[in-house]
Formats: sequence, structure tokens, C-alpha cells
Amino acid sequence: MADALKIGIAGLGTVGASLVRIVQERHEMLATTCGRAIEIAAVAARDRNKDRGVDLSVAGWFEDPVALASEAEIDVFVELMGGSGDPAYSAVKAALQRGIHVVTANKALLAAHGVELAGIAEERGALLNYEAAVAGGIPVIKALRESMTGNTISRVYGIMNGTCNYILTQMEKEGLSFETCLKEAQRLGYAEADPAFDIEGNDTAHKLSILTSLAFGTAIAADDIYLEGITNISIEDIQAAADLGYRIKLLGVAQRTESGIEQRVHPTMVPYDSVIAQVDGVTNAVAIESDILGELLMVGPGAGGNATASAVLGDIADIAKSRPGAQHVPAFGRPVTALLPYKRARMQSHEGGYFIRLKVVDRTGVFANIARHMAENDISLESIMQHAKHYMDPAEPKTIILVTHATFEASVRKAIVSIKGEGYLVGEPQVIRIERPKDW
Ligand SMILES: NC(=O)c1ccc[n+]([C@@H]2O[C@H](COP(=O)([O-])OP(=O)(O)OC[C@H]3O[C@@H](n4cnc5c(N)ncnc54)[C@H](OP(=O)(O)O)[C@@H]3O)[C@@H](O)[C@H]2O)c1
Repeated sequence: MADALKIGIAGLGTVGASLVRIVQERHEMLATTCGRAIEIAAVAARDRNKDRGVDLSVAGWFEDPVALASEAEIDVFVELMGGSGDPAYSAVKAALQRGIHVVTANKALLAAHGVELAGIAEERGALLNYEAAVAGGIPVIKALRESMTGNTISRVYGIMNGTCNYILTQMEKEGLSFETCLKEAQRLGYAEADPAFDIEGNDTAHKLSILTSLAFGTAIAADDIYLEGITNISIEDIQAAADLGYRIKLLGVAQRTESGIEQRVHPTMVPYDSVIAQVDGVTNAVAIESDILGELLMVGPGAGGNATASAVLGDIADIAKSRPGAQHVPAFGRPVTALLPYKRARMQSHEGGYFIRLKVVDRTGVFANIARHMAENDISLESIMQHAKHYMDPAEPKTIILVTHATFEASVRKAIVSIKGEGYLVGEPQVIRIERPKDW
């Protein structure tokens, strides 16, 4: 049997501690499947005295993750600390500069520095593997980077944040407010104490930027994503969506269009009977539409120690099985020099269906006036209805819900501006885009 593959792990939290336990418990099984043992040679974390429920006595301890990456006798540096800055950035860079392979679960790091790090990996003949960085245990990176080579991809989209999906699912199932469901998610450990990064859509955006690069062969453009979180979604929207045969999901969508690539993260209405609408709770899903394969949908655990460690371990096992001197798969599917510049499609030219909820004062002619503004902006309506709630009380504002056929974002925005100018709206209009998956 070949020499053991020596790994150094920086970060022994939820994912790191799970990885250590699995590697230790399945030592023999891994040695058989990989053709060589996997040995944890060194570890780093902040607090040496913390009980992590795993045996770290045989691994060397490093106070500084950058020192581990720069000096330890290892074949693979496994980065499980998180964050786009230091020490993760400097540690990964230092390992790659030594020609040491890197495995990371850190989407923030890749979204910010992925192309630079991939360039160093290529130069030094090292691998940069990051399956766990997008949708946790779902093997979407391998699917896009390797299995679907030769396909032209038209759209990739998915539910990539378990916190948001849990909140939206609970709002619908229990009829509870956003705030109540967020608190419950925090109590169950599905949401961070500071949940902004998840609920504002930034976490999904980081993951989407990686998928866009893999799907369309472009340089990562994480700062160039249309972003809307779920904080604005009310129970009224969820119920209206259900009445119309839809569910609301926070989707990340990357789509090839004639004017460029759309990258967008926003609450989205998906038809109730589509498979993606059935993905509930903290589960993730990623759909890929391409010309040769057709439509691929992967559903599975997007987070959690074990699921994420499973993907990290798969990346390590790939390195253990690779032959010395073999040509490596480039980090983003093609050499860094062959990555195309990202050309953004303007959100204004996005074309799709829209759900629009308006609160209006009860005045004769409002309904017809709204329909007129829509027609003047070439927006064809699938349905327009007035909610019967408070119907008998003329002092109460009325809710009007419109669903459009495919139309341009610019037209919807223009129509909304002119409706606002009429003076009969109460509060801000709610606009939710509709996404139609291919049929599975
Ligand atoms: N948790 C998930 O379900 C999940 C899913 C997919 C991807 N990920 C990604 O996996 C990575 C790790 O996530 P996690 O949930 O395991 O994080 P975590 O539980 O917060 O653990 C972070 C670990 O990094 C160590 N660390 C942080 N800063 C450090 C520093 N300056 N020097 C040395 N060690 C440092 C911490 O040390 P101490 O323990 O001593 O404080 C801790 O062991 C992140 O990139 C995350 O985005 C996580």
C-alpha cells in the first residue's frame, strides 16, 4: 500500500470535528477504498483546551493556521475555519504556494479570492477542491466541473440556504410570521445569532457566484449579483402564493441570456407541483439545465457537520486516489487563463412572470386603473383579483393581486411607478418574480 496521505486540518468546529471523527472511525474502510490510509498529521484551532469530542492526541497542534499551512509535513491542507479574509486566505495561499493540495468548505473565501487561488493552484500543480462550499453534501461541484463536461448550460438555480428555506417552510406550514419563524430557527441552531448574512441572501449569492463560474466558464463575479433577501416576505404573500398554486422559495439563479448572464438571488414563486417547490426545511436543491444531459435536479442536506464533512472527505479521497504527476482538474473546470470575463445581463431586461400585491384605498375605478397601467406597459395579465378580506368595510384598504405572463422587469418597474403616482396605494407594493422550472 502507498504511503498514508497526510492531512492538516485548520478549524475544528462543526465541520472540522465531524471530519476528524469520521476519518478516525473509518480509517480501515478509507484505506481500502483510497488505496492508502488517510492520516491526520496536524490540526489548528483557536482554543487548544476546548473539548471537541474527538481524540487529537496523535496530531500535531498549531496555534497558527498559516504556520500549519506553511510548515507542517502534510500532503493536503484542509481549511474549515471560514471567512473570506485571514487567516483562511493567507493559510490557503501559503499551502498552494508550497504545491500542497487544498480542500475547503469556504464559499466566502472562494467568492472573494477563488480565481487568484485557482491560479496559484494551477501554477504549482496542486488541487483546489471545494465540494462542500456549495449546497453542503450535494455533489454539485463535481457534477458541473467534471460529469457535465461538454454540455452547454443554460440555467442553474437552487435552494442553497437552509436557514431561509426552513423559515419560509415554517411560515407556510404553521401560518406564523417571519420574525417568529426566525426565532425558532435560531433556537434550533438553524440560524446564526446574527442571521443577516443568510436572510439577506448574501450566503446564497456567494454559492451562486461559484456555480455561475463553473456553469458558464466565467471569472467569479460575486459583487455583481442582483440581491433580495426574504425579510420582506409576509404571511400574506405566502398565503396568496398558495391560493394561486405557488410556493415561495429563496432561489439563486444564474441564467444565460442574449445580453449576458443573469445572476440573481431573490424570493421566487415556483409552481406548487414542481419538484423544487417540495423541497422543505433545511434541505437544499440545485437544478442544472443543459443541452446534452437535459435537466438534472439534486436534492439533499445542505449543511450540518456530517453532511458537510462527507463532501470534504470526498474531496480528500479524490486526492488520495489521484496518481502522482497526473494532470489535475482545474478548480473552475477550465484553466484560469481560459475563464471568460463575466458579462452581466441587466436586471431590467430580465423576462419572466411576476406576482404583484398592492394594498389600495377602497375607491371606485382603482381596479380598472391598475389594469390600464399594466396594459400601457405591455404587461399581459394571467390573473387579477381582489382579496375578499374586509370586503364589507369600505374604510379598510383592499388587497389586489396580479399575476403577469412573461414580461420585462423594466415594464413592471415602470408600471409600479405610475401606479404609485395615482395616490391610492397604501404602503409599498410587493413584487415577487415567478420562476418556471423545466418539467421533471
Ligand atoms: N456548518 C455547516 O453546516 C457548514 C456547511 C457548509 C459549509 N460550511 C463551511 O465550513 C467552514 C467551517 O464551518 P463550521 O460551521 O465548522 O464553523 P465553526 O463551527 O464556527 O468552526 C470554525 C473553526 O475554526 C476555528 N477558527 C476560527 N478562527 C480561527 C483562527 N483565527 N485561528 C484558528 N482557528 C480558527 C475555530 O476554532 P475554535 O473552535 O477554537 O474557536 C473553530 O474550530 C466555513 O467555511 C463554513 O462556511 C459549514
